[in-house]
Amino acid sequence: MDARKWGGPVSLGSRPRAGTEADMALEARVREVVVSGPSGPGALIPLLQLVQEKVGHLPRVSLSLISEKLGLPESRIYGVATFYAQFHMKPRGKYVVRVCQGTACHVRGGKTILEAVEEQLGVKPGDTTPDLLFTLERVACLGACGLAPTMIINDDTYGRLTPVKAQKILASLAEGGTGTTAAS
Ligand code: FES
Repeated sequence: MDARKWGGPVSLGSRPRAGTEADMALEARVREVVVSGPSGPGALIPLLQLVQEKVGHLPRVSLSLISEKLGLPESRIYGVATFYAQFHMKPRGKYVVRVCQGTACHVRGGKTILEAVEEQLGVKPGDTTPDLLFTLERVACLGACGLAPTMIINDDTYGRLTPVKAQKILASLAEGGTGTTAAS
């Protein structure tokens, strides 16, 4: 077997690709993570997970660096990174806001909650606020139908929401609060 193909000792070089200072700093950070990460057969997903854990998302440059390290086509790495919901190609916010649009929440006004959150954050589902504070997502069911309408922010569940209550929770978090006072 070609050792390089499965992550043999590849230097990955040190010459940054063209870009802004921020791009070069990001590439250097990703390079460090990729070089220190696993190699060999089966390393692709653990390496993607490691980059995401350390960098917060999978920048485009991470795909080419992983391609170099593992000797795999970049197209294959892109395919894996976009297939699994756990991987994110774009930066994510400090708070990931998941607003439920499942049946129980829908009949109890879930759509108005989503609209209120969109208005408050100024982004649509799938997007992140420019300050990287919030990422908005819509989900089918959060498994808390008895509390409908609901949303989850990171690991905290907020139930029996109204549009105003949802906006107060977000405002509290944006101001550095916990969001819990606003939820009560
Ligand atoms: S439908 Fe919203 S929590 Fe189940």
